[in-house]
Amino acid sequence: MLRLASETEVRWAEASVDDLPYLLVEQAHLEKKAAAAAIAFMFRYPDHLVLQEPLSELAREELEHFELVLAAMRARGIEFVRQRPSTYAQRLLEIVRPTEPEKLLDQMLCNAAVEARSCERMMLLSRALRGIDDELADLYHGLVGSEARHHELYVDLAKRIVDPAEVEQRLQSVMQHEAEVVATAPSSPGLHNQR
Ligand SMILES: [Fe+2]
Ligand SMILES: [Fe+2]
Repeated sequence: MLRLASETEVRWAEASVDDLPYLLVEQAHLEKKAAAAAIAFMFRYPDHLVLQEPLSELAREELEHFELVLAAMRARGIEFVRQRPSTYAQRLLEIVRPTEPEKLLDQMLCNAAVEARSCERMMLLSRALRGIDDELADLYHGLVGSEARHHELYVDLAKRIVDPAEVEQRLQSVMQHEAEVVATAPSSPGLHNQR
């Protein structure tokens, strides 16, 4: 269960698949960033041993996704170039409270929200790509399961550090905030923007 507070419209995915180079370059950057976010947690909170192994595994999976996307780009003659990041993550993190342990909880739930939104949109992309680029549709379909698991993992890990009832309550606020960020995102292609 993804617990998103809003649903992306199918026409977002239909419009996004019109610009595959943009979509795939962004996807590659996002996978790399997801790995970096997990590793950053491991370094920021070395005393929370419960985080270390699961996040190491998650980071490894994200780097595998990164390599899969790079291979898909190479096969389509798309170059991995720098891209102006969307404001999605930055705006999402505005909800993070400045002091611990609230800071840890909020950051974990923001990561859970990113994983959930990515999962939801990859599913839509996989459907929209069917018949246009079946190989890419399969690639997105294959990523959906991992991102759903990553979403759950961030919530579960938070519950091992903070009172589970507090995690559930805060998760609702973070998801509500995430839905507002998405609803007011600039209109441009990509996983974390509107169309
Ligand atoms: Fe991923
Ligand atoms: Fe992920």
